[in-house]
Amino acid sequence: MDFLKRLFTKEDIRKNLERIDPEKIPKHIAIIMDGNGRWATKRSLPRTAGHKAGIEALRDVIKTCSNLRVQYLTLYAFSTENWKRPEEEVSALMNLLVYYLRNEIQELNENNVRINTIGDISKLPQAALVEIEAAQKLTRENDGLTVSIALNYGGRLEIVNAIKEICRKVKNQEIEIEEIDERLFSDHLYTRGIPDPDLVIRPSGELRISNFLLWQIAYSEFWFSKIFWPDFNGKYLVDAILDYQERDRRYGGTK
Ligand code: IPE
Ligand code: IPE
Ligand code: MG
Repeated sequence: MDFLKRLFTKEDIRKNLERIDPEKIPKHIAIIMDGNGRWATKRSLPRTAGHKAGIEALRDVIKTCSNLRVQYLTLYAFSTENWKRPEEEVSALMNLLVYYLRNEIQELNENNVRINTIGDISKLPQAALVEIEAAQKLTRENDGLTVSIALNYGGRLEIVNAIKEICRKVKNQEIEIEEIDERLFSDHLYTRGIPDPDLVIRPSGELRISNFLLWQIAYSEFWFSKIFWPDFNGKYLVDAILDYQERDRRYGGTK
């Protein structure tokens, strides 16, 4: 940690911030918050200590996104596959979610953040549902950064659910098969109304997507880093944005 602090002096951040082109801020950033367990293991701490430490990174990233006027931030917090983990770890993660929302919601609200979730939250513990509901209700009218927390989220499940819903509508003659297009399909995903991510960030050294936003990332830009999530902060986010601003997004066309 100290070594990281020395690596980034205040001067560095200021210089990097000045290099950001305000006209090319990604509208939507999605982050796979990974590496908590390894961060803790490296320090001979229980994995759950890593999850707890990840909250500090979360705070800094939300603050930085708000300051930079990013409009949407989507955070992968718990996947449909994460239920495979030991029960103690799953329940520690759920408790942390409750703790996080309870403790941070006032400040998030004061910062004009709107809280949203994606994923099948019906499978979450009641205590978590209560906090989510309260957080959404409190921040509903905010028009700053929209933070979507992906909880019991899986890209494949999302696609399957969208297909089921569309099939039901066809069966009930609410829509015609010919009406199904990419736009209609997108409108049946959890992310309806939210533009596709411009930038996807995955720390922790893994170079994979792990079932995150499969449909939505068709033309996203990627930024990977070996840093573990608890060590991540606004400085890395600025690095990722600077890197993103150098990319030439052709969407299959020519320059
Ligand atoms: C990410 O960190 C948090 C969740 C998946 C909930 P991990 O717990 O996956 O940490 P590593 O990848 O094992 O280090
Ligand atoms: C992805 O991380 C899910 C979250 C960060 C919530 P995982 O740690 O679950 O992914 P894998 O197992 O390394 O692919
Ligand atoms: Mg992991």
